[in-house]
Amino acid sequence: MSELIVNKLRAAGCVFAEDEAKLLISAARTAAELEEMVNRRIAGLPLEHILGWAEFCGLRIAVDAGVFVPRQRTEFLVRQAIALARSGAVVVDLCSGSGALGAVLAANFERIELHAVDIDPDAVRCALKNVSMAGGHVYVGDLYEPLPATLRNSVDILVANAPYVPTESIRLLPPEARIYEGPVALNGGKDGLDIIRRVADEAALWLVPGGHLLVETSERQVPLTVEIFSRNGLTPRVATDQELEATIVIGTRT
Ligand SMILES: C[S@@+](CC[C@H](N)C(=O)[O-])C[C@H]1O[C@@H](n2cnc3c(N)ncnc32)[C@H](O)[C@@H]1O
Repeated sequence: MSELIVNKLRAAGCVFAEDEAKLLISAARTAAELEEMVNRRIAGLPLEHILGWAEFCGLRIAVDAGVFVPRQRTEFLVRQAIALARSGAVVVDLCSGSGALGAVLAANFERIELHAVDIDPDAVRCALKNVSMAGGHVYVGDLYEPLPATLRNSVDILVANAPYVPTESIRLLPPEARIYEGPVALNGGKDGLDIIRRVADEAALWLVPGGHLLVETSERQVPLTVEIFSRNGLTPRVATDQELEATIVIGTRT
């Protein structure tokens, strides 16, 4: 049975066919359910949407249909945020998707005050499952707009894995992302930096002096991102992880 599934998945182009087969077999309650799951995977649905969860920084994060699947690369941003945070920190996760980043931050400290925002109501419903255990607040809306005004000047850590794919490059993404995650999760406008620009524009209003904004970018977007941060009263620092192919820019409110 398992070999048959591995072969089917491999023929459909799944690179990690054996691992995926194991996960699907352990998730299915009946043979019929397993067959349906395998067929959905062969049709191109992301594995995480079929399972209903993704592993991220060692946590099992609920990921509902249509919600952005947290990428392994983003674990680098989270590790950097953990290094800058402390127990009791006020943390805001903008463009939170499933809420994965905030959930991991919360799991790493005895206590943090967590606020997560996403514009997509499906993502917000999903984030609620992941951050409510940590006592986190989740809001639906456009970037800072739904946050309570009392948070101004008081945020220690602001993480934003915002959409940063240039519009023209979306057609080059694998179908799993293009079809099942959708433009609102991916499209960063002409140069990919439209949303990051808006995040940086207002960051200094919300960060405590010495607080940090962390965003993920592509290597090509670094010079412009650094310039955007500097223009907005944020001292920029670039960090990269070759293995994860991750690039982030950290801006500290001066
Ligand atoms: C690349 S996904 C990242 C999700 C999550 N941070 C992660 O890394 O798994 C970007 C997310 O930004 C959200 N988004 C896009 N535009 C937004 C906006 N103007 N305000 C709030 N969220 C937005 C999308 O709905 C999507 O969930």
